[in-house]
Amino acid sequence: MLQAPEVFTTERLVLRRPRLSDAEAIFEYASDSTVIHYMDYGSRTDVSEVVKSLESRPAEWESGSFSWVLTVKPDDRPIGTIGCWLEDHAAGFGYLLNQKYWGKGYATEAARTVVNWAISLPEIYRVWATCDTENLASVKVLEKSGLVCEGRLRCYLIRPNISAIPRDAFMYARVRGAS
Ligand SMILES: CC(C)(COP(=O)(O)OP(=O)(O)OC[C@H]1O[C@@H](n2cnc3c(N)ncnc32)[C@H](O)[C@@H]1OP(=O)(O)O)[C@@H](O)C(=O)NCCC(=O)NCCS
Repeated sequence: MLQAPEVFTTERLVLRRPRLSDAEAIFEYASDSTVIHYMDYGSRTDVSEVVKSLESRPAEWESGSFSWVLTVKPDDRPIGTIGCWLEDHAAGFGYLLNQKYWGKGYATEAARTVVNWAISLPEIYRVWATCDTENLASVKVLEKSGLVCEGRLRCYLIRPNISAIPRDAFMYARVRGAS
C-alpha cells in the first residue's frame, strides 16, 4: 500500500492528519448548510457525527484513503479538510472549507499541494476530481490546480441538499506528462 505524508507545509498552510480533538472545529463547517450545499450528504447536526467520522479515519488511511485538515500558520485549528483516495493508477480528491476562510486562495494552495504529491507517485498516472456544474468556486480551484475539464457527466450524482434529482458534474483531471 502506498504511503502518504502525515504533514504538508505550504506557504501559508499546514495540512496535517485530523485528530479527535479537531471535532469541534470541523463541526463548525460540516454543520454549515452553505458549505455542505454541493456535497452528496447532509449537514452534520451533532458533533458526535464528526467524532464518529474521525474515529474511522485511521482505518481509511491504512486502506489508501487519506485526509488532512487545513490549518493556517501558526494556528493549529482546522479551517477545512482535503481528502485523497488512491485506486490502482489513479487518485481522486475533494475538499471543503469553513466559509469564513473562502476567497483567500487556501483551497487552491491545498489542492495544488496534494495534486503535485499524488501525480509525483510512480504508480499514479491520473489525478481527478468531479464537481457540480454550478459549483463555480470549485471549478476555479480545479483549474488553478492544473486540472483540465474532460467533460460533463450527465445525471452523475444526487446532491440531497439541492434536490432528489441527479445532477450533472464536470470531470476534471491532470494526467502524468500532460500540461
Ligand atoms: C470550493 C471551495 C473549497 C473554494 O475555497 P476557496 O479557498 O474560497 O478557493 P480559492 O480562494 O482557492 O479559489 C476560489 C476561486 O473561485 C472564485 N469564486 C468563488 N465563488 C465564485 C462564484 N460563485 N462564481 C465564480 N467564481 C467564484 C474566487 O474568486 C476564486 O477565484 P480567483 O482566485 O480567480 O479570484 C469553497 O468554496 C468551499 O468549501 N465550498 C463548499 C464545499 C465544496 O463545494 N467543495 C468542493 C466540492 S467539489
